[in-house]
Amino acid sequence: MSEPKKLNILLGVTGGIAAYKSCELVRRLKDLGADVRVVLTSGAEAFVTPLTFQALSGNPVHAELLDPAAEAGMGHIELARWADRILIAPATANFISRLANGNAEDLLGTLCLATNAPIAIAPAMNQAMWANAATQTNIDRIEQLGVQIIGPDSGIQACGDIGAGRMREPANILNDFWHKEAHSELSTGQSLKGKKVVITAGPTREALDPVRYLSNHSSGKMGYALAIACRNAGAETTLVSGPVDLPAPLGIERISVESCTQMHTEVMQVIKNADIFIGTAAVADYRAAEVSEQKIKKTSDNDNLNIQLVKNPDILADVSALSSRPFTVGFAAESEKLIEHARLKLERKKLDLIVANDISAAGIGFQSNENAVTILSATTEDKITQAPKRLIAEKIVQRISESL
Ligand code: PMT
Repeated sequence: MSEPKKLNILLGVTGGIAAYKSCELVRRLKDLGADVRVVLTSGAEAFVTPLTFQALSGNPVHAELLDPAAEAGMGHIELARWADRILIAPATANFISRLANGNAEDLLGTLCLATNAPIAIAPAMNQAMWANAATQTNIDRIEQLGVQIIGPDSGIQACGDIGAGRMREPANILNDFWHKEAHSELSTGQSLKGKKVVITAGPTREALDPVRYLSNHSSGKMGYALAIACRNAGAETTLVSGPVDLPAPLGIERISVESCTQMHTEVMQVIKNADIFIGTAAVADYRAAEVSEQKIKKTSDNDNLNIQLVKNPDILADVSALSSRPFTVGFAAESEKLIEHARLKLERKKLDLIVANDISAAGIGFQSNENAVTILSATTEDKITQAPKRLIAEKIVQRISESL
C-alpha cells in the first residue's frame, strides 16, 4: 500500500444516530495519514461526546461559534482555512437545508461558508425525510454548488423503516471522499471502479455572427447528474460540456466547449481508452454554412433573411463507429412517438443503450430538476418514473454497469 497524501480533514458531525459511526471515520482517516479536526453541532453532542473525538483525533474538538478560548487558538476562520477538505457525516436533513441556504448560525455552517475547501456530505435520515421533495431540492441545490453527496444507502433504519436514508458505511464514505488520492487503496464494491467514462452535457451554440447563435434550452443538469453518478460509482469521469450555468463537480475533469464542432474535437481526443461514452448533450444538428464576421444588419428592403445551414458532425454516431468503441449510450429527446423514435436512433447509430426522454410533458426534460425516462437496448425496455435527475442518473449508471 503506497503512502497516502497527508491532508487536513475537517470532519463535521451533526445530530443523528449515525454519529457513532463517525468515530470510525476519524480512526480510518488517521490511518490514511490525515490530520483530523472534528466539529460537532449541538445536535451531535446529544449522541456523541467531544471527548471521544478528541481522543481519536488527537486534536481539540470544536463546537461553539463564539468561543473565546478557540478564537485565541483556532477560531472559525482559521479552521476554515486550515481544512484541505471538509466531510460532514452524518449530515441531517436539517443541516442539509441550512447548507443549501447558506445559514451561518453555528460553527459548522459558518465554516462551510468561509472555506475554499471542497465539501462532501454523507446524508443520514429517515427514508421519508430523504424522499421528501424539500430534501431532494436542497440536495440538488448543494450538488449544483459543488458539494459532493455520498450515499445514502438503502436498508433497515434505526427507526425500523426500510428505504434509502441510511448513512453509508465509513469504508464506503472514505472510498468516495478520498477518491483520487487514495481511491485504489480502499475496498470499494463500486460498480464502475476502474472504468473511464466520457459524457457530453448541455447545449451547443452555433454562431451566426459575433453576437448571435443557434442553441436550445438544455441546462446541463441531466449530464452533470450523470457525471456525478459515474464519479460516485468509482469511474474516472470526463465531462465535455457546452455552455451551462453549473459549477464543475468535484473530482471530475470538465472540458468546456461552445459549438458542436468543438465538442466533437474534444470528445474524439478524450475518447481513446474510454470504457463508456454517454451522449447527454443536446447538440445542434446544423450550423451556419458561413459565420458572418460582422453583426448581421437589418435591411429596410427585405423582410426575410435566409441563413444557409449545413449538417454538424454526429458525435455519438462517430464514437459508436470507432473500431475499438466504448460502451455507447445515447439520449433521445422526443416530443412524440417516444419509444419508436428512440429505437430508430438506437439502431441507426448502433448504440448499446438509448435513454428515451419525453420532452412534451411538463416538469421533466429540458431545464427541470426532475426527469422520467425509458432505457432501451435492442431487446429490453426499462421505464424509470419521474424522480430528481440525480436519482435518474444513478439508475442509468446501475443499468450501464449491469450491461457491462
Ligand atoms: O440539460 P437538461 O436541461 O438537463 O436536459 C436534459 C436533456 C433533455 C437535454 C437530455 O436528457 C436529453 O434528452 N439529451 C439529448 C438531447 C438531444 O439532442 O437528443 P437528439 O435526439 O437530438 O440526439 C440523439 C443523441 O445524439 C443524443 O445522445 C445527442 O447527444 C447525440 N447527438 C446528436 C446530434 C449530434 N450532432 N451529435 C450528437 O452526439
